[in-house]
Amino acid sequence: MLNKIKLWKKENNSSELRDRIEQIKKLPVPDHVAIIMDGNGRWAKKRALPRIAGHHEGMKVVRKTTKLANELGIKVLTLYAFSTENWKRPKSEVDYLMKLPEEFLGTFLPELMKENVQVRMMGYREELPIHTRRAIEKAIEDTKENDGLILNFALNYGSRAEIIDAVKHILNDCKSGILNEKSLDEHSFSSYLMTSQLADPDLLIRTSGEIRLSNFMLWQLAYTEFWFTDILWPDFKGEHLLEAIEIFQNRQRRFGGI
Ligand code: FPP
Repeated sequence: MLNKIKLWKKENNSSELRDRIEQIKKLPVPDHVAIIMDGNGRWAKKRALPRIAGHHEGMKVVRKTTKLANELGIKVLTLYAFSTENWKRPKSEVDYLMKLPEEFLGTFLPELMKENVQVRMMGYREELPIHTRRAIEKAIEDTKENDGLILNFALNYGSRAEIIDAVKHILNDCKSGILNEKSLDEHSFSSYLMTSQLADPDLLIRTSGEIRLSNFMLWQLAYTEFWFTDILWPDFKGEHLLEAIEIFQNRQRRFGGI
């Protein structure tokens, strides 16, 4: 009897979710959603588990969020999985975080293929352990023809380093005559960033109650709508993504105009 009630509740909730998804799809959804997935450590601590248990649970949420984002017609989902500053964490935690892309892609690549998801990565690849890099590069190669959602992992990514590198590259191109200094504008500057192939995020989500950007896409987020939630990333559910998008759909974006 208890199981029947549980099943009824589950089915009922998911039909509620389905209705919400259909309503959301009637209005424009953000093309590019970026997420700072925060709170894995606190989620684990609350359960007296090691921090890596939080990261593992967080990985499962990546899968579900990707699936829903694809279903909603979001074009790009950028996930902040590891920052250039995260190397400061204990080696055991860093080692574990570097194993997660392999585990995720090893398990879910067939599903991502089936769902037509294209995997990409932005960040400094050369500093990643070879096993991490291989897993990511294989996924990028295998999914390159897919034209559904772009799942863009920010891995060993830092926005200030990205901007400095862009400036160095621009100076070089000016020196060698590839670029005329006078033609440098916001559009051409953007083409030197790791996101050159992508539109700027329309919506930024950060979980866990922290209200900061932590060196994430500082240039690209200039006109992005922000949504912060106290939910810890491992607890982030479809309903939270839907809530963020509903709020986004009710905002007025003016891009500096009136
Ligand atoms: C921040 O939480 C989270 C990270 C630094 C890692 C995020 C990684 C995942 C969610 C898994 C990624 C999965 C793939 C497939 C690459 P925190 O550890 O800083 O949490 P805390 O602030 O509560 O300590």
